[in-house]
Parts: sequence; C-alpha cells; structure tokens
Amino acid sequence: MASEPSVRVPIVDLRARAREERAELLACVERVLDDGGYVLGPEVARFERAAAEAIGAPHVVGLNSGTDALMLALWGLGVGRGDEVVTTPVSFVATVAAIAHVGARAVLVDVGPDQNLDPGRVEAAITERTRAIVPVHWAGRPADLGALGEIARRRGVALVEDAAQGIGASHQGRSVGTFGAAAAFSAHPLKLLPALGDGGFLATGDADLAQRVRLYRNHGLEDRDTCAIFGVNSRLDALHAAVLAMRLDNVAGVVAARRRNVARYRELLADAPVALPPEDRSGDASAWTFFNVRAARRDALREHLAARGVETLVYYGTALHLHPAAKALGYARGDFPVAERQCAEVLALPVHEHLDEAQIAYVAEQVRAFPAG
Ligand SMILES: Cc1ncc(COP(=O)(O)O)c(C=O)c1O
Repeated sequence: MASEPSVRVPIVDLRARAREERAELLACVERVLDDGGYVLGPEVARFERAAAEAIGAPHVVGLNSGTDALMLALWGLGVGRGDEVVTTPVSFVATVAAIAHVGARAVLVDVGPDQNLDPGRVEAAITERTRAIVPVHWAGRPADLGALGEIARRRGVALVEDAAQGIGASHQGRSVGTFGAAAAFSAHPLKLLPALGDGGFLATGDADLAQRVRLYRNHGLEDRDTCAIFGVNSRLDALHAAVLAMRLDNVAGVVAARRRNVARYRELLADAPVALPPEDRSGDASAWTFFNVRAARRDALREHLAARGVETLVYYGTALHLHPAAKALGYARGDFPVAERQCAEVLALPVHEHLDEAQIAYVAEQVRAFPAG
C-alpha cells in the first residue's frame, strides 16, 4: 500500500479563514440575533450599498445565489421564449441553466487561448433572435470585455456578465461586472467574497432593472397583499449579508495574495511540463479564483500530485454542450474543439491566500518532477 504523503497542501482552506475572522463573524451573528430580522432587511440594504460602492456599480441587489442573479438579470431584461443568448461552453452549468430557465436558447461559441469566450467567433453566432451575450470571467480572469462590449453595442444586444468568479478582477481599472447591462456575482463559499453558505448579487447601472429584480426576488410582492407578478424566492439572508459586508473590505487583500502566488508560480514553473494561463491583457487584472494550468496527461499529473499531498481540482472536465442536460441544444463532440481540449487538460493548483512560500515552492517542485512526455 502506498504510504500517506507527509506534506498536505489543500486546494482551499475555509477553516483558516473562519479562524482568522472568528471575532468578526461572531459579531455578525450577534448583530443579526439582536435585530431579530433574518431575511432581507437593513443588513441586506447595508451590504447592497457597500457592494455598489466597492464595485463601482450604481445598483446592487442581494440574492440567494449567483445562478439566480444570472437568471433574474435575463428575466429582468425581458429575455425569454424564442430568444437566443450567446455564451461559452466553458463554465459552471449554472450559466446555461439560467438561460434555459428563462425559456431562451443558449448558443455556444468556442473559447480562445485565454480560456474565455472568443470575441472573434461571437459575431457569426448572432442572429435576429439574439438578445444577449453572456461572457464568463473564468477563474476570475476577465473575458475580453473591450471586444465583446463593442460587438454587443454594434449589434444592439445586451452584455450580461457572468461575474460569479469575477469579484476583485478589473478591466481598464474598473471592476468587472460594471461593463454590461447587468452582472451576476456569486457569494458561494468557494468564491473570493464568500457567504457562510449560498448567496449572490446582481449589479447594474439600470435603476428600472434593479427595481424589477427586487420585485422578482420576493415573489413579485409590492407589499404584503399585492403580488404584481409571480416571482421567486431569491432573498438574501441577513446573516449572509452581514458577513459579506464585513468581508468586502478583505477582497483586495485576498486578491493581492493570490496575485503574488500566481507570480511566484510563474517564476517557479517557467520550465515545468505544464502550460500556464496567458498573462493578463494590457489593462486587465485577474483575481485568480482558481489557477488552471494545462497538461496533456492531466489525470496522471493529478494522481502524481495527490500522491505527494497536493490537492487539485478539475474546473471542469466536461464542456457544457457534452452534459446530458444540454442534449436539446443539439451540439455534438467536436463542435467546440478548443473548449473540449481545455476541459481535458486543465488542472487547478492550490493558489489560495493561506498558502505560504514554502507550500508554493513545494507544489511547484512536485509539478516540475512530473515526467514529461
Ligand atoms: C461561472 C459561474 N457561473 C454561475 C455560478 C453560479 O453561482 P452560484 O453557485 O452562487 O449559484 C457559478 C458558481 O460556481 C460559476 O462559477
């Protein structure tokens, strides 16, 4: 039997963060208990104001997930049955699910070498039914917002950013999530602004859209006795909002630590048998929600690292069009070769803010020791 590795480098360390923030987290719990309001209310309003200020978006609406933020953005923009929405085959399934849930059809376009929606292929996918383009800032690396924004403007369709992984990333000095008609952020525990469970929010510059989404998130209730439209229950809880407001101040530090870790990996892995993600485009700054390297023998590399105590994750092994749920979209293997190859090769190495220099050096050493060829 193989012996247990003596070193362990986890892919995330949520307990370490909870230990560091214990006093502040308990203060959030106490404040909510003292207030006695657990759903929406002043904590959510306070978080929305603080997040709007931090991101530079005129309006933020707190919701119960990034998935709902995307779905309610599309719904609020009037996207529905018979409409098409152009997006990437490399994302979490929620991106395409949100499009399906409003009754629209996801039209997939392959990714480029940056692992994000390839603007060069988007134009050809736009038809008279297209209502929106949904780029995903995969791994917290900004999609090509300049080019995609230009196409959206010229073709008269909405740009809706899937910024679920994008908090802390920027384009031309401005936070991602402020470039389109609306953006969806996730506050899932594995994101860089995490709640103590599920959470999310929508950012927009459109006051009417924000108002509609506020209505939808609470069953379409204008008041206790008047339902203006059948909505959903996508309310953000007060406790999550209190934690998110407290953690907003920490996003910059978390992102700075991850950028330092990526810079160190780039030095240490320069001659390693893996491909590193491309450098940021000029004017872009990635947040590194995860750090995807690529290897032709990805699964062997994963096993090699696991045997040496390095935890990794595959984000993700299956392109969206190849899931059973996507069958109705009518795509087949081979339709998006760049995405399919990417899904077969990517491996996320530990990059989180609790790693120390010795752990990064250890991970890099184990990657370099992986037999090439
Ligand atoms: C790219 C992307 N879109 C949407 C979502 C959905 O966010 P949530 O899990 O908060 O619903 C996620 C979450 O993992 C994501 O990574």
